[in-house]
Amino acid sequence: MKHLLVTGGLGFLGSNFLRWYHRRHRRVKLTNIDCLTYAAGIDNLGNLRSSPEYEEHRVDITNGRRLRSVWPDDPVTVVHFAAETHVDRSLQDAQPFVRTNILGMQNILEMARRNPVRRVIIISTDEVYGATPARGKFREDQPLAPTNPYAASKAGGDLLALAYRQTYNLPINILRSVNVYGPRQYPEKFIPLFITNALNGRELPLYGDGNQQRDWLWVEDFCEAVRRLVNAPQPEHPIYNISAGNQQRNRDVAKTIMRLTDCSPGQLRPVADRPGHDRRYALNDRHFRKEFSWRPKTPWPDGIRKVTAWYRANAAWVKKRQRQSYRSYYRKQYHWRFDE
Ligand code: TYD
Repeated sequence: MKHLLVTGGLGFLGSNFLRWYHRRHRRVKLTNIDCLTYAAGIDNLGNLRSSPEYEEHRVDITNGRRLRSVWPDDPVTVVHFAAETHVDRSLQDAQPFVRTNILGMQNILEMARRNPVRRVIIISTDEVYGATPARGKFREDQPLAPTNPYAASKAGGDLLALAYRQTYNLPINILRSVNVYGPRQYPEKFIPLFITNALNGRELPLYGDGNQQRDWLWVEDFCEAVRRLVNAPQPEHPIYNISAGNQQRNRDVAKTIMRLTDCSPGQLRPVADRPGHDRRYALNDRHFRKEFSWRPKTPWPDGIRKVTAWYRANAAWVKKRQRQSYRSYYRKQYHWRFDE
């Protein structure tokens, strides 16, 4: 029987992927290693947690001893999602990022070296390349030039993974995606933050001039890309970019959300920029599209409408996340910006 080991399966990407994969491969055994950080939730998985194919271990990947004790004996395909991911938090405190994204990565790679693995897929990001110039797109051979501690920790993790692939001849592949959006993303990230603030009559803090560009990929299109890589017997390339081909300026995303939520124009608040803010990310994903015949299926207008509707319909889910720790992060991140 096939066995899939996912790390970070209670977070945004991991939980969406587990649901997506399980719906299409009912008989594959699933092991989820997750330490339930602030951004995760057991409610993200719905009924899947009670399925007989599913097993969960509450383990922090930075704890090598605990990780060893729960690692399965049979050959697994690993999808490594577990990471600290929010740039603004990494600017407040980089340490958890270095711990999880580099030391945690090394523990995962060590497990892959000492145990039978069919394949290890590392979930990475466009941010490792740094900002893309106003024109053009980065290919996988673009030198890494991260500009914030989050991106640097992911770049460090990617380099470690490539070193293990080369040195120990391990079947490791890195998937670098553009920004992903969809249901169950913790409401500190741009799209869920703006939707939830708009719905709650709060201000929408737009950094700088709002002309920064991101390429937004619908989460299920992302999950399908990961699924195809998981099921591939022998991927051709060590690293794959994936993109949506949907470049949006932040100010336009904000306007769209405001329209969809009937938010008052006065709620939009241009605020002090993020230090070292990358103006644009854009990836060339020719390799992945060609090899896996993959195309994103969800057009932006549908995706942004669906995600707005999801947050509107799931106020209880949001409320659960906006606990004390969220409020103190929010205060530190935004209050001085609003006061300026
Ligand atoms: P984010 O969701 O943090 O993703 P990333 O920085 O990793 O791409 O931010 C997306 C964009 O939105 C980015 O250009 C920063 C901007 N942004 C704001 O303008 N205001 C905010 O409060 C946040 C969180 C982000």
